[in-house]
Amino acid sequence: MIYKELKPFPEHFLWGASTSAYQVEGAAAEDGKSPSIIDMYEHPSDVADFSVASDHYHRYKEDIALFAQMGLKAYRFSVAWTRILPRGTGAVNEKGISFYRDVIAACRKYGIEPVVTMYHFDLPWCLEERGGWGNRETIDAFVNYARVLFENFGGDVRYWLTINEQNTMILHPGAIGLPKGGKLPSRKELYQQNHHMMLAQARTMKLFHEMVPQGMIGPALNLTAMYAASCRPEDAIAAHNWEVLRCWNFADVPVYGWYHPLAWEYMNDRDIAPEVQEGDREILKDAKPDFIAMNYYSTATIAASRGDASDVAARAGDQQIMLGEQGVYRPAENEYVGKTQYGWVVDPVGFRYTLRKTYERYHLPILITENGIGAPDILEPDGSVHDGYRIEFIREHLHQMRLAITDGVEMLGYCPWAAIDVVSTHQGYRKRYGFIYVDRDEFDLKGLERHPKDSFYWYQ
Ligand code: BG6
Repeated sequence: MIYKELKPFPEHFLWGASTSAYQVEGAAAEDGKSPSIIDMYEHPSDVADFSVASDHYHRYKEDIALFAQMGLKAYRFSVAWTRILPRGTGAVNEKGISFYRDVIAACRKYGIEPVVTMYHFDLPWCLEERGGWGNRETIDAFVNYARVLFENFGGDVRYWLTINEQNTMILHPGAIGLPKGGKLPSRKELYQQNHHMMLAQARTMKLFHEMVPQGMIGPALNLTAMYAASCRPEDAIAAHNWEVLRCWNFADVPVYGWYHPLAWEYMNDRDIAPEVQEGDREILKDAKPDFIAMNYYSTATIAASRGDASDVAARAGDQQIMLGEQGVYRPAENEYVGKTQYGWVVDPVGFRYTLRKTYERYHLPILITENGIGAPDILEPDGSVHDGYRIEFIREHLHQMRLAITDGVEMLGYCPWAAIDVVSTHQGYRKRYGFIYVDRDEFDLKGLERHPKDSFYWYQ
């Protein structure tokens, strides 16, 4: 669709940027924080350890002052559950509360809107030892944690995200690290965990609307539109299969209160459907998000399954993420899109397409909570970092977002990944996303000085 004129970005659009607790904070065992699964898991050996990360825990004042200088209107960060409730539940750690209270105050000082993710991959280890998300008690623990957050920060924070990328955790559980010994849960166990997360999320959203009536809450999902590899009808069916199983099945539950019909039939057919207890359906029906938070990096192109083991292959550059499923879909190449040097598809037009599809499906405003390009940025001797590729990437995505707004998609804001360099889940500090360079290597912490990159001044 070509328009005579493009609509402007909305007046109070949240021009922001994002991080997550375990990838930026460090201080992994300080001030009463207990270990999370991230601290206890094994990671690919070349990933920098997370115990110091970007040392944001000690430098958040300096960092948030830089964010203000960059012109941020919003800062999306996550709270580490293990700082607030070191035993997962029970006694509240006041040092954890005061840390996030200070972070929020530092944002407010500069007129930056805090956008808080409650849970970004870092389940308390003590809960994991008791069965983690496979144990229904974790639902109560999460709702209790949510209550503590709303009591302490509900008055100061308007935008809340429940769970980051539940779909990644369920579909690609190895993506955030491997349990020691390397055994991942079965798919049946994973869909049971998924059901428990859905229940925790639904109860949390309901509680939020009671406790923080002026606020807005939503799930944060990694969404991506799928292209059929050809106009062959079987390719179209396969692309739809994977789009439903990867994306809509995870967003339908919070919005509509139940699983996508195709996904439900698929889970039953494969004997991986979760056990649903009496009352679960009512809980899921009883909660509504106010918006959808979307992490968008790339699209995928899909062909019909050949029905044999050759359907399954590791994602380029990433042995932890297997794509393709026998009898369901098969990943295919797309000659019309670009790729990062890590093999991630770069597709700004696909961003517009994904926004359109998400909005027409849910009719809820969309907040972009991640989008960005990972690259091995180079710190020059004079302290500059020339990341023109990042400027180009974001500029093109912003243009497509503006087209989507003109298409009628309601957008709340744009918080790309990342406000500052963070530990990549797979490539440590060899792969960076931030607008601000953090001077450290995988294992050599150097001085951890901050250096604004070219993209910082452009985004400003
Ligand atoms: C998102 C996650 O899926 O992708 C982030 O929410 C992550 O935590 C980001 O860092 C980029 O992935 P990676 O593996 O390049 O760090």
